[in-house]
Amino acid sequence: MGSLIELSNVSLIYQTGWLRRKAGAQAVAGVSLSVGEGEISALVGESGCGKTSVGKLALGLIRPTSGRVLYMGKDIWGRDGKHLRPTGQIVHQDSYAALNPVRTVYQTLAAPLRRYGVARNKVREEARKLLEFVGIMPPDYFLDKYPHHMSGGMRQRLLFARAIIPKPKFIVADEPVSMIDVSLRISVLDLMLKLKEELGIAFLYISHDLATTRYFAKNGKLAVMYLGKVIEEGWMEELLRQPLHPYLQALLSAAPVPDPRIARERKLMPLKETEPPSAASPPPGCRFHPRCPYAKEPCTQEVPPLVERGSGHRVACHLVDSIPPWRLI
Ligand SMILES: Nc1ncnc2c1ncn2[C@@H]1O[C@H](COP(=O)(O)OP(=O)(O)O)[C@@H](O)[C@H]1O
Ligand code: SF4
Ligand SMILES: [Mg+2]
Repeated sequence: MGSLIELSNVSLIYQTGWLRRKAGAQAVAGVSLSVGEGEISALVGESGCGKTSVGKLALGLIRPTSGRVLYMGKDIWGRDGKHLRPTGQIVHQDSYAALNPVRTVYQTLAAPLRRYGVARNKVREEARKLLEFVGIMPPDYFLDKYPHHMSGGMRQRLLFARAIIPKPKFIVADEPVSMIDVSLRISVLDLMLKLKEELGIAFLYISHDLATTRYFAKNGKLAVMYLGKVIEEGWMEELLRQPLHPYLQALLSAAPVPDPRIARERKLMPLKETEPPSAASPPPGCRFHPRCPYAKEPCTQEVPPLVERGSGHRVACHLVDSIPPWRLI
């Protein structure tokens, strides 16, 4: 199946200062990734590594400094000057900020339903069906409620209800469950899986948290970002089985495991520094080298390219062949 969205060697430098003339952070540095129709792709990495910027680039909300963003094979910032808007939606982590606090659930859904062609006398019925579909039950109870009457999980469901009204082909879910209670996270991820299965919506799932990512994207692809660059990518199952980059190995060794015996006995991979350096002045060579326990001479000088290690598994590390295989303990 062809790619729905494709980023090809995309970079983004934010302009800052007076009249935005000063080059600020290089938020994205030569990223290539794709999301197929009806597929799930996930992007993980620490805060500030450029995930949200990639999400906005994929939706055509910001223009890349260089590189191309393709939607169904067409350059969305094409040379003819026309800007093609992909039929995608974004759902952010902060449902409170994304919803108008003085609008009821009904009003939140009614405006887009009208805009997308639902007759005035059918709007309430359609809103009721949408609430039922996303699991806001009973719909009649919630229709006249305000966002502050609802739990974080319910508000996030409402955002998904609103997002599917334009019948999007894909959704960028940017940390969609990081602000809601841990006990409710799985049910919201299951709702997203239902949108994929029943409506064929493709997802770019963005998170700093491997636990929710591995649940949601277990049959999909994973790209791991570090300071604006993708440092490892491939099918989720393969990356979890055999992580090759020291950064992904470190993320996995710090991720929670259900077995308390393993949790007690496993060794955490020691990183040299705890704070990541800033995107405004990334280190030369491999951007991970100040924290990497294996860093040697070439790492401080040369940027490691992403190289294929079989069946779509790619990694950017000079010393990948000499790094010990990762084990949970
Ligand atoms: N509008 C902006 N103007 C200037 N710098 C920005 C802007 N948005 C993000 N950045 C910077 O770009 C980098 C990447 O940010 P972001 O894409 O939000 O990362 P993430 O979503 O992984 O936390 C950060 O260093 C951030 O400070
Ligand atoms: S290239 Fe060098 S510094 Fe970068 S991850 Fe590999 S070993 Fe570590
Ligand atoms: Mg973000």
